[in-house]
Amino acid sequence: MKLNEGNQMTKHVLITGGNRGIGRAFVEHYLKAGWNVTACCREPKRAVELSILKSNYEHLKVLELDVSLSESVASLAQELAGTSVELLINNAGYYGPKGVKFGNSDASEWRKVIEVNTIAPLLLTEALYRNLKHGSNPVAVFISSKVGSMEDNTSGGGYYYRSSKAALNSVVKSLSIDLKEDGIKCVALHPGWVLTAMGGPKALIDTDMSVKGMMAVIDELTWEQSGEFYDYQGKEIPW
Ligand SMILES: NC(=O)c1ccc[n+]([C@@H]2O[C@H](COP(=O)([O-])OP(=O)(O)OC[C@H]3O[C@@H](n4cnc5c(N)ncnc54)[C@H](OP(=O)(O)O)[C@@H]3O)[C@@H](O)[C@H]2O)c1
Repeated sequence: MKLNEGNQMTKHVLITGGNRGIGRAFVEHYLKAGWNVTACCREPKRAVELSILKSNYEHLKVLELDVSLSESVASLAQELAGTSVELLINNAGYYGPKGVKFGNSDASEWRKVIEVNTIAPLLLTEALYRNLKHGSNPVAVFISSKVGSMEDNTSGGGYYYRSSKAALNSVVKSLSIDLKEDGIKCVALHPGWVLTAMGGPKALIDTDMSVKGMMAVIDELTWEQSGEFYDYQGKEIPW
């Protein structure tokens, strides 16, 4: 049975990188809100927390997806053919090696960051375009980062990650224009500095606060806000 055949009124969200960190919190909060949730991750068999959630929520589906592999994206799209998606959350992200200083840049490491953070969200949105188009009031969310903002950059460095998120923001702006006539809103969101493996132990907020805030922003997203860049509290971030 297709995920949302049982109840045509139930909305469907697909979340990448749903096994840990911010993605896992999105999965839990949307389940609690009654949505059909497709949580994607690279290794479903090792996603212990998703297995626990699955035993409590029958409207959770866990699917394998490595966002940087075209075969993986194609097989996900095939699996979901004919299923509408109201909300796509491109959350999976990769920082790359930390502390790389000017003079030590490595092109192959940079490419890996760009693959996951910039190229994959666009290709996945293309692969799931029909699903979104058939969704009711569909939204494509792109988890970006304030460090991709030019205006916010006062400390330099972070070449791989900063450039990958700045380029993602550019992708989001174009998508918001190209998908407008299909009724698909697009938005770049900064989750805050969040206590996850990526955010580290000095981060300022937990995943619950970040995700609850972003869910409110998504829920209230207007057409004027499509193609813009906001933080988890709905504050606009300069490009
Ligand atoms: N934490 C922060 O302070 C912060 C701030 C600004 C923006 N962000 C953004 O928020 C998003 C979530 O970050 P997080 O803090 O939750 O990070 P995290 O705890 O490091 O989790 C990263 C997630 O991305 C997944 N992922 C990485 N590469 C992937 C790939 N090729 N295919 C599929 N999944 C992949 C990981 O899966 P595996 O478990 O398989 O590795 C994991 O689920 C990212 O886009 C990040 O850039 C985070």
